[in-house]
Amino acid sequence: MSESRTQNSISKRLLSWFQQDPEPMPWRGSTDPYAIWLSEVMLQQTQIRTVIPYWNNFMVRYPDPQSLADATEDEVLSDWAGLGYYSRGRNLHRAAKQIVQNHNGQFPKKPEDVRNLPGVGEYTTAAVCSIAFGEPLAVVDGNVERVICRHRALSGDSRKGETKVHIRKWAQEWIDPEQAGDHNQAVMDLGRKVCTPKNPNCSACPISTDCLAFESGEPERWPTPRKRRATEKQRWCSAILLIGEDVLLLPGNTELLPRHSGPVLARWDKENESPADVLKKEFMKRGLPVPQLMGHGDVYKHAITHRQLEIQPLLYRWENEVPHDSKRIPLSEPDRLPALHRKAVIAIQPFISGTSKGVDLVHDS
Ligand code: ADE
Repeated sequence: MSESRTQNSISKRLLSWFQQDPEPMPWRGSTDPYAIWLSEVMLQQTQIRTVIPYWNNFMVRYPDPQSLADATEDEVLSDWAGLGYYSRGRNLHRAAKQIVQNHNGQFPKKPEDVRNLPGVGEYTTAAVCSIAFGEPLAVVDGNVERVICRHRALSGDSRKGETKVHIRKWAQEWIDPEQAGDHNQAVMDLGRKVCTPKNPNCSACPISTDCLAFESGEPERWPTPRKRRATEKQRWCSAILLIGEDVLLLPGNTELLPRHSGPVLARWDKENESPADVLKKEFMKRGLPVPQLMGHGDVYKHAITHRQLEIQPLLYRWENEVPHDSKRIPLSEPDRLPALHRKAVIAIQPFISGTSKGVDLVHDS
């Protein structure tokens, strides 16, 4: 069989597998490029089941580029809270403004205009333009890389050099130009559901018959493992400042979440220092009065890129002047905060219920 017939048959098998039982997602079936773009931005580094409620909420609150552009960045980020990687939310907002300004509020159609939007790279351009407009551009995400590396037994780091070039070449060669959107989604679904990193389900794979990794009997040998940057363990303290029934949020919270207002964070790296002392120093460093300590919550864990954090939350009552650059949210609405801060507020909730019963909460001086 000629190479092009083989490729064609790969796409046919992928499409028929996909069309038999596509995974339901609320944006599937839509050809609205704005709705698809929103889903693709949210899906970067985030699982589908996490994205669905956020996408639904955004489509109600911001149904088109104009409504997103009209919102303030704070509003958008507050709706984004919990999805993580906040630069995505900021870029989304900036891109909506650009669409209003340069494209009359209509999502652009030309791939080069889409690629020019803030936060949009090669992947998002290919995904949006193929699904919304049928552009024959192949998407390459982590799932696609794995499928292709295995099928063609490509060794080497899939994000670098020749291997990266070969993956892109194969992805483009496989694509069915008549059904580019479905084809791209088929390869991504296959990688996520069948050609999984561990224990791939080769017996359910529509393209296993000509897969070189399957033929080898050890499909998990591909892709070649990447050298990972070591993760660093760090301990931090988080001061939750209670003001009435609200949590006071202060800006400029360290390198962990530099652009978010939130509880006051401070690194806790000395064994012989108490969390209360660490935070006392932090308040003084920021020129803030040291508030009244009420108690501790349980230590919680949080992972951010290359860091595994253990965070000790402390609860304070704020009885001082309210700083002009602060914000506040009701204690009952921790979901409005990024996960790192949300967990702190949740972790101190037991103490707050304890407070109302008059329990003495202070564990250390
Ligand atoms: N991952 C990101 N976008 C996707 C899509 N449209 N279909 C399947 N998996 C995806």
